[in-house]
Amino acid sequence: MLSASPEDIKIPFRFVARRRVYKELETMNESAQIVDPVSHVMECFRLRGDSEYGKEAVSQIEHALQTAFAAEQMGGTPQFVAACLLHDVGHLLHDLPEDAPDKNIDDEHEQLGAAWLYEHFLPEVVEPIRLHVAAKRYLCAVDSEYFSKLSPPSVQSLELQGGPMTPAQAAHFESHPHFKSAIELRRLDDQAKIPNLETPPLSHYRDHLTQSLIVGPAK
Ligand SMILES: [Fe+2]
Ligand SMILES: [Fe+2]
Repeated sequence: MLSASPEDIKIPFRFVARRRVYKELETMNESAQIVDPVSHVMECFRLRGDSEYGKEAVSQIEHALQTAFAAEQMGGTPQFVAACLLHDVGHLLHDLPEDAPDKNIDDEHEQLGAAWLYEHFLPEVVEPIRLHVAAKRYLCAVDSEYFSKLSPPSVQSLELQGGPMTPAQAAHFESHPHFKSAIELRRLDDQAKIPNLETPPLSHYRDHLTQSLIVGPAK
């Protein structure tokens, strides 16, 4: 299991049971034993990566690649680059409508993505993903400039995600072992919404993903 989280940051995996997972991915999950986890993840992007990234001006795959590319450019470890690439994979795993936030529905994508990945990927990958919404709530609490620069869709989802942390929650969050990488990921995430920005293709990140597995690549 993923390591325990601060009790006052909303968490667990209760949603996994009640949320319908996208049908094509269900089929893919059934055959997962014959597909390595890296190929599995890349197939997920192939199937659903062209979908909208909320109301932002980029698609899900563009957003993922821009976040990973920014991490790579700042010299991030392969695991951090992989975390950046996969941070929103949870959005691709459910069949909630694109306008779910307008209906006051939080898709809890950070939890869904982490739950999908934790069996195969290292905690250095999974934990920043699981915490990237908490990181937004933290930054909104401690950095007024951060909040002022959030995109309108991000402000809308903030409310559904619990709003800014209280001082006690923020202090608690700072003690989490993956606090720093969650914050770093979040800051890159917020900037990765540039239309038509050129990035390496998804295949460029296969090695980063392979180096992020709990066990090594299949021999
Ligand atoms: Fe996200
Ligand atoms: Fe994101």
